[in-house]
Formats: sequence, C-alpha cells, structure tokens
Amino acid sequence: MILRRNIKGLKVKVPIRGRKRNYIYFDNAASTPALISVINELYDYLDWYSGVHRGTGYKSLVSSRIYDDAHDIIGRFVGADSVRDTVIMVKNTSEAINKLSYRLQLNPADVVITTDMEHHSNDLPWRARARVEYASIDRQGRLDTESLKRHLKSNYPRTKLLAVCGASNVTGHVNDVHLLARMAHEYGCPILVDGAQLVPHQHFDMKPHNDTAHIDYLAFSGHKIYSPFGSGVLIGPRNTFAGGPPEYPGGGTVKLVMTDKVFWADPPDRDEAGSPNVIGTYALARTLMYLDRLGMDKLGRYEQELTDYALDQLQQVKGITIYGSKPRVGVISFNLADLPHALLGAILCFDAGMGVRTGCFCAQKYVRQLLGLAESDHYLELYDSGRMAKIPGMVRVSLAAYNTREEVDELVRWLKHIAAHPHKYRRAYRFAASQGGYWPIDKKIDADLSNLIRIDAGF
Ligand SMILES: Cc1ncc(COP(=O)(O)O)c(C=O)c1O
Repeated sequence: MILRRNIKGLKVKVPIRGRKRNYIYFDNAASTPALISVINELYDYLDWYSGVHRGTGYKSLVSSRIYDDAHDIIGRFVGADSVRDTVIMVKNTSEAINKLSYRLQLNPADVVITTDMEHHSNDLPWRARARVEYASIDRQGRLDTESLKRHLKSNYPRTKLLAVCGASNVTGHVNDVHLLARMAHEYGCPILVDGAQLVPHQHFDMKPHNDTAHIDYLAFSGHKIYSPFGSGVLIGPRNTFAGGPPEYPGGGTVKLVMTDKVFWADPPDRDEAGSPNVIGTYALARTLMYLDRLGMDKLGRYEQELTDYALDQLQQVKGITIYGSKPRVGVISFNLADLPHALLGAILCFDAGMGVRTGCFCAQKYVRQLLGLAESDHYLELYDSGRMAKIPGMVRVSLAAYNTREEVDELVRWLKHIAAHPHKYRRAYRFAASQGGYWPIDKKIDADLSNLIRIDAGF
C-alpha cells in the first residue's frame, strides 16, 4: 500500500512485559502520523526557510511565495473559491472556531445553532459569544434534522450561524453537510462545518457560493491529516474577515499605524498575527498535494471498506457494545461488558501494544447521551478527587487509510481474549489517580517507560 510505506513511525516497537512488540496505532482521530516524503521535503525546504512578508533577500522572497501559495493549495483541496474565500492559517480546529466566533461580531442576543453531537471545540466558543441552541440527536447518535429545522424556524431571523461537525469524533457518524447547508440557507443562515474528522477521510468540496449546498465556513486541523506541524485552517468569505479588528492585533495584521488610528491589512494577513507558522503551512500544503495525487476518493473507499470490516469483526466480540451508526468514518467507540473503559485502554496499551483513546473524547454531552446517563453530582466528586478516568465513557479506535485488516484482526483477537479473561486483567492493574487512570501492577513498566523516553525518543 503506497500510503502505508510513506507513514513515519510504523516500525516503532514498544516493551510488552519483557519483550518488544510492534506498536499499532488506532488513535488517528486524535492525531495522525506524518508522511516521510513530506518530512524529506521539509528538510530540503529548511535551507530556504526565512521570515516571510517583511524581509528582503531571496530566502524571504522564496519563503513568502511558498507561504502564500500554500494558502491557495490548501483552499483548492477543499474546493474553496480562490477569489471570494480567504484561507486563514491557525494552530488547529479549536483556534479556527474560536477565531470565527470572535470575527462574526456576534451580540449576546444573536443565536448560534449547534448540535448535541459536537466536540467541545464547536460548542464552548459559541457559548461565550451568543445564545446557543442545540439541535438534538437520536438514540443512535444521529443528528435529528427535524429538531434542527425547528430551531432554524423558531429563531429566524436571529440565527447568525449553524455550526455542525462533518463527522463525529465519538461515533464517526457523518452528517450530510450539504443537506444541512441547504436547510440553513433557506433560513438565511450561513453554515460552519467543523471538518476535523471529515476532511482527512473523504473528498470534501465546499461547493460554489451560488450553490445552496455551499459550505460558508470550514475548519480543520493539519495534525489530523498527516501533517502534525502545528497548522490548522479556517476558510470563509473574505468579506467576513475584511471588516473589524482581529482578536489578536499585532505585527503583520496592519498596513498603517498612526498614534490614534490603525489601517488593517487585507485577509488573510489581518487574521494571522505575528510571525506565521511557515513550516507547518508548507508541510500541510505538501501533504494535501500528496493526498490529492493518491486520490481522496480512493483513500476514502479503502477506509470505508476497512471500517466495515472492523465493525463486522468487532461485533463478534462477546459483550461488546458499539455506539453510533452509518454513514460513518473509521471512528469506532465501544465498551466491553462492565470493564471500565480506562482499564481496557490500559490493557490495550501495556499488554497489546496498541494506542487507542478512552473517556469522553472532548464530547462529554454526546457521550453521556449515548450511554443514556444524566449529569450527576457524582461526576463532581470524581472530578474533585482526581478520579476523572472513572467517569463513564468509552474506548475509541480510530482508523486511517494506512491501517490494515491485519491490525484490525490483532485488535479483535485481543478483545476476545480480554473478554474471556477479565479477572486476570482486573488483578494485574490498579487505579492510580496520579497516572490519571489504570496502571499495571508491575514495577518494570515505569522503568520501561523512562527508558523509552530517554533512549528511544532521545530525550
Ligand atoms: C470533531 C472535532 N472537532 C474539533 C476538534 C479539535 O481539534 P484540535 O484539537 O485540532 O483543535 C477535534 C479534535 O479531536 C474533533 O475531533
């Protein structure tokens, strides 16, 4: 598989009870590994690295051109309009959404509609700026479009934005964002798609401005699409960002500064305060060019087949409960009988050599609803006593287009084994609040971990 050969770090081995085992990474929804080819390109480009926009000299001219062109490449990858839209480089999706929440210049009486299936990053920023209403979800974790319609209707014309995820980071459930765009536009309301979990997994097209299915604003993170170099993206109409001051004024955001007057720069400079992340932006553009050459449709189809295979296999594990429903990307959250999620995550780490994620995945409301739990004071007690990992949650495996059926088979083998011998593992681990979860009762683990950090990772 071409992509797999280009993934950095797949040969890493981790210590498992005295032996070394190939690490299997199933936490791609958190961050994906980097591409070897892009790392090599970065290495070469670093000969030319320089400050941008405000320098003279060839290196600055070359770097400025590369940095500016990278914006266009990133915009093209998702079908942004090269004239009417602007591509603003930020750190990640969270920063992108926070920036938009500021730049829309909302009043507290304005309404932003979001949903009960959002990551905190597409919920909390809005709470700080407007009255937020939440479209509900059904028992499978799918957005209830009737509920959304009711919110759009009853708040017309006060709704300033519909903010919705392209795909959930808990269930992987994919929203039909173009249908939602049509619904929002019918009520004169623009749409933001939080593309953090969708753009890396499917071909994404914002569609032309004159199409009612057009996506007005899009946010996504480089580190979730094979480019972990500190860059994220906010795309939207230039008009939105051509008015008013940015939330971070400073170097690069202005054309002229007088004692009592400031003339702001045009987009995107106005919203990229200070020296920008040239390296991260270059790396993201090169990564997207590479993915474009492989074909996002093709990668998406492969991931879909792998996801279907994983779901089929996982369903055969005794005692498993898998949350969510299709259509979905390869984000699969589950629980195994009554094993605490944090314990299962620890077993997969220390016994199976796998990286997964456990808990509520920054989507606490959604996870609680999927689990059928109400908010409870008990959570406050667990929070106060540093035992957050005991709050009910799930285990999440998240696939990317370089994962294989063999890796899925290995996961399923382990889950079947754990399901058959829960007491053995319960005895081998203890809850350690200081470690933030379960930890093996095996002193050697701490030494192994220190060695990994010191010797293997060179720290
Ligand atoms: C759906 C979704 N939105 C937003 C975010 C926030 O992304 P970042 O951590 O890159 O800011 C995440 C991260 O997991 C996510 O899954």
